[in-house]
Amino acid sequence: METITQGSKVEKDSLPLKRIDHMELWVGNAKQAAYFYRNALGMDLVAYSGPETGVRERASYVLQRDKVRLVLSTPIRSEHPMADHIHRHGDGVHAIALEVDDARHSFKVTTERGAQPVQAPAEVEGVVTASIAMYGDTVLTFVERGDYAGPFLPGYEARDVKGPDFGIAAIDHIVGNVELGKMNHWVDFFARVMGFSQLIHFDDADISTEYSALMSKVMQDGTGKIKFPINEPADGRRKSQIEEYLEFYNGPGVQHIALLTGDIIKTVTAMRDAGMEFLKVPGAYYDEAQKRVGEVKEDFNAIRQLGILVDRDDEGYLLQIFTKPVEDRPTVFYEVIQRRGSRGFGKGNFKALFEAIEREQAKRGNL
Ligand code: FE2
Repeated sequence: METITQGSKVEKDSLPLKRIDHMELWVGNAKQAAYFYRNALGMDLVAYSGPETGVRERASYVLQRDKVRLVLSTPIRSEHPMADHIHRHGDGVHAIALEVDDARHSFKVTTERGAQPVQAPAEVEGVVTASIAMYGDTVLTFVERGDYAGPFLPGYEARDVKGPDFGIAAIDHIVGNVELGKMNHWVDFFARVMGFSQLIHFDDADISTEYSALMSKVMQDGTGKIKFPINEPADGRRKSQIEEYLEFYNGPGVQHIALLTGDIIKTVTAMRDAGMEFLKVPGAYYDEAQKRVGEVKEDFNAIRQLGILVDRDDEGYLLQIFTKPVEDRPTVFYEVIQRRGSRGFGKGNFKALFEAIEREQAKRGNL
């Protein structure tokens, strides 16, 4: 692993980002997906837009818990462009929305630096949105909220359907899978267009198993709060998990969304009870992990029983666990992560984790 603190050449604060505003997933059946997300991730349904609110062509459900906001949208008619996206990719992430103070400026600056425009700035009730293209069919949207006080965005009505609270608090990072040879293109996009800098680089030596390999680079914004790791497949003896994703997603896109919690044992216990399926590592992992990581505040038996992974670096440690894909296509999945000082990504877990992923791949006949 190489830790890189190289800053981007873009002047500081030329594109200040406030936070991840929301992520929008385009799904085959948003009504049912909203039920799953509400009950399996522990979120409230807070807003809705669809035929009943005067929107004729789609339905969207907004789920929220603390700083995590997910929008699930589906087309009502098959000629809608969303239907084509779902046909090609299955359920997946269409947009990552970042809150900014000035969406027109963000759009102008990024397109001047070479970003491909998707939606020019548009203002409704004082809220300005604009979008640029990211990897594959994924878009990056700038949202300027001004003084807007509605439940989500103009066109949405408030809903108050409570879900359980499992303690998810924020989106820690959003990982994208890109095609072989495209890593540096997207690293350059985040550096040159977005003004991000590269935090870490993992290569084959860190991430190869007997069968497959991948490369990963982590890009983060100036505040260090918004992190976009990018994976590229590397040559291995068998089909890598990244290649499996690219095949079934029909191209690059978001691979996983990491949800931050302050109490991973509580969060994962509740998600498991609610039916969320997690990857399992063999028991031998824990004999080694306890030695490798040393003293942790959490109950190690609970960590072992739940299948939570642990890793330590010079700043502290982290606990993490990965769900199985939440669609029938082996594509998008979620991570639950708790940080105890560490700002890393669980490098010490890569081998055990990727072997667990490969066991699932083999069951699907894709290894
Ligand atoms: Fe992750």
